[in-house]
Amino acid sequence: MIHEQRQALDEMVNKMRSGRLTRRSFMQRAAVIGLSSSAAVSLLEACGGSSNSTGGNGAATNIVWQSDNDTTNTYKDIVDTFNSSIGKQKGIHVTWLNGPTNTQDMLTKYNNMFRARSHTNDIISLDIVYPAQFAQQQWTVPIDDSKWPAAERAKYLQGPIKGCTYNGKLWAAPFRTDLGLLYYRKDLVPTPPSTWDDLTNSAKSVSPSKVKYGYVWQGSQYEGLVCDFVEVLYGFGGSVLDANDATKVTVNSPQALQALTLMTSWVGTISPAATTTYTEDLSLAAWEQGNAAFMRNWPYAYVKSNNPQESKIPNKFDISSLPHGGSESVGHSAIGGWNIAINAYSQQQDASWEFIKYTLSPEAQKKGAIGASYTVTLQSIYDDPDVLSKQPLFGKLKPILQNALPRPVSPKYVDVSDAIQRNVYQALKKQATPADALKQLASDLQTVVSSK
Ligand code: GLC
Repeated sequence: MIHEQRQALDEMVNKMRSGRLTRRSFMQRAAVIGLSSSAAVSLLEACGGSSNSTGGNGAATNIVWQSDNDTTNTYKDIVDTFNSSIGKQKGIHVTWLNGPTNTQDMLTKYNNMFRARSHTNDIISLDIVYPAQFAQQQWTVPIDDSKWPAAERAKYLQGPIKGCTYNGKLWAAPFRTDLGLLYYRKDLVPTPPSTWDDLTNSAKSVSPSKVKYGYVWQGSQYEGLVCDFVEVLYGFGGSVLDANDATKVTVNSPQALQALTLMTSWVGTISPAATTTYTEDLSLAAWEQGNAAFMRNWPYAYVKSNNPQESKIPNKFDISSLPHGGSESVGHSAIGGWNIAINAYSQQQDASWEFIKYTLSPEAQKKGAIGASYTVTLQSIYDDPDVLSKQPLFGKLKPILQNALPRPVSPKYVDVSDAIQRNVYQALKKQATPADALKQLASDLQTVVSSK
């Protein structure tokens, strides 16, 4: 939503409230400015008391939430519940805009929005890799103790809170974390592999004889590839930058060579040749069709793979931790996740916080866990009997959470990520040998981390 759209929207809302616009014209104008019909209906409800409007919460304050991508209706449910309860009491109405599936498309949108100092979106969902950068630019508003007291914060996973903290302040509220998981078809492979070599061998033994592909994962050149790469790398005991000194590049190591050589060998053997175009959703599509024995993906894929309306394999799979290799004894998931922040240019910051506070409530967190198998941040959810019975994966997540590791932490993360994406991709496409790709990656990273 660009600035003009927000202005048009505000004008429509005012006219609707004062009875100067019919419901039909409202819907027509909403379509013209590119609002989805469900977002328009929701906003119409907020105008309450208008000519044909039924119900509505008579909100005085409209706020717009740009979320990350959700195709399970969970965010809609959270927004609708807020609008009809707290929102109704406090005169706040939230309009929900669903986000793109690719986190980089979202970043581009935000870059444009904030450079224009736009307040078109009052509340924004931020990938865990970006809060520091947004904080540095002062694009979001810190959430201080008076809003979210320390005693409350202590009830949430500390990792995501740390990920949203920069210079001692919290710049976004951690709605959910994300963890790379190994999905396996329990009807084909009774026990999950513990090492990357086991996975490779097990995949070979069932594909293509019993299933089209052995292993599907994310090999397209984008942020997801960084996650998949570091997971194999960490599993072999390697790293990208020195954990204690982010100006030291450590990626050109024997462990990294083992990891990248193995990943490269998968493409076109146990994994489809098209892996170099695969994002989360494309790997999930192959998996849901019943075409793969193993898949690396985030927890959201659990609910989706169990949904008979879109998946051919409900109840035929389970999850486990990612494998390890070399002399390591545990695998490591990359930490992902989505956090909710207030746009520093928003004119509705208090109302925005009311909604964010609701997303952290036990009710909304439970909706996230049950509706979308999101690994939400409220710790008690992981022991909630209702959640465990409806989404049994929660019973297996604690040790995986404990061993999860962040992507390289650097104030220049965007450039670090870009260097990893380009060079790992070259190796996967067989345009560079794994050894050459790592050498080049180390040199590119050195330039990034040494630049002021
Ligand atoms: C998921 C993760 C996010 C990551 C992205 C990569 O959305 O939550 O942290 O950057 O996947 O594709």
